[in-house]
Amino acid sequence: MGDTQRVTAAIAASARLCVLTGAGMSAESGIPTFRDAMSGLWSRFDPAELASEAGFRADPARVWDWYAERRAGVRLAQPNAGHRALGEFARRRPGVLTLVTQNVDDLHQRAGNTGAIQLHGDIQRDHWLEPCTRQPGCDAAAAAPGRPPRCADCGNRVRPGVVWFGEQLPPASLLAAEHAAAACELMLVVGTSGAVWPAAGLASQARRAGAQVVILNPALSEIDAEADLVLRGTAAELLPRLLAG
Ligand code: OAD
Repeated sequence: MGDTQRVTAAIAASARLCVLTGAGMSAESGIPTFRDAMSGLWSRFDPAELASEAGFRADPARVWDWYAERRAGVRLAQPNAGHRALGEFARRRPGVLTLVTQNVDDLHQRAGNTGAIQLHGDIQRDHWLEPCTRQPGCDAAAAAPGRPPRCADCGNRVRPGVVWFGEQLPPASLLAAEHAAAACELMLVVGTSGAVWPAAGLASQARRAGAQVVILNPALSEIDAEADLVLRGTAAELLPRLLAG
């Protein structure tokens, strides 16, 4: 039996499957990754300027425009065969899959996994930069237009609802992800470099708790050593084959 067949059989036999995805999951939908050498966003842009609160405060219009462009790209993108295979698997085997994603796009949700745990937020959502102290709180989505939009009453600025460097992950999402990692029998790690924590630690957490860990990635990742098996290939190639059984 080859490695692909072994993983297909393990998935078919698993009652608790956890899938952790990263930017590579959406690469074949046309959304750039962060760390791929030629095409990754961080090869062209400085994350300290574009993905930190300090960077936003230093040049809010630039950061707002950069996210506006990425938001538009996500809206135009479509789920690929990998997202669709995960959606179909969840429909076919309800209650088996917990999907944890570092991605801020909504392609898993649009492919049917509406309950995907989003560790790094949602790029289409708006948040207030400063905590809104009014009761009830003002609605960031209704802010006066601008780059960025501002609260018509107090001038509070809107920022994208993603987790920036130096910020905590949403506690409930992280807890749910850690629980899924500790409770699963099998974890598939798809399209992540494993460079960003705490998400990168979920694979070793699953392994310590006794799960089998399989990495799907066309290139080396920083957490390959945590895996029982590494399959070299893309998300849209591998997932439909592995999840069909
Ligand atoms: P990275 O850009 O760090 O890694 C992308 C991974 O996807 C690499 O290991 C690639 O080899 C792999 N890859 C590329 N194309 C692929 C394909 N078609 N199929 C499968 N894998 C492919 O992205 P992440 O690991 O997700 O933070 O990065 C983690 C976080 O760093 C992101 O969530 C983001 C970023 O700063 C936030 O947005 C908050």
